[in-house]
Amino acid sequence: MEKTLRISKIRDGTVIDHVPSGKGIRVIGILGVHEDVNYTVSLAIHVPSSKMGFKDVIKIENRFLDRNELDMISLIAPNATISIIKNYEISEKFQVELPSRLIGVLKCRNQNCITNTHEPVESEFEIVSKHPLVIRCVYCERTMGEKDIFS
Ligand code: CTP
Ligand code: ZN
Repeated sequence: MEKTLRISKIRDGTVIDHVPSGKGIRVIGILGVHEDVNYTVSLAIHVPSSKMGFKDVIKIENRFLDRNELDMISLIAPNATISIIKNYEISEKFQVELPSRLIGVLKCRNQNCITNTHEPVESEFEIVSKHPLVIRCVYCERTMGEKDIFS
């Protein structure tokens, strides 16, 4: 248990904990949070953590994440803990898992890749390296790093 609660507990929603310090903003980007959202999002940056030294924490009220969002979060926060909160209680808690392949969640940076033409082919990447993050398109073999993926 944290000694100090930086952001108050939420009634319903999702807590993304143990995000590497400084990566929380990227998680917000993955979730597509923008000025017109109809849910409340809190981001705590550089929170002291016994396990990690410092971490970022994101709390999203009344919103739950889908598989693609969890897969994308695992790319930048491989040790993130997801807690699903229902009526103030933790109804589910799990670690994100880096999938061996990412299907249909990212665009290949190669404009000529078959996945960027009008062919009905879903994008597909395999993980080449976790630290630093490198993924490779299984169709054209273009590799992409964290900066290519999240910008
Ligand atoms: N949480 C919340 N609202 C609630 C219940 C929990 O925002 N109604 C948050 C807590 O602040 C924490 C996360 O959900 O960030 C997980 O809760 P819990 O397992 O109780 O916290 P810890 O024991 O600190 O978790 P860990 O051991 O994973 O660090
Ligand atoms: Zn490609």
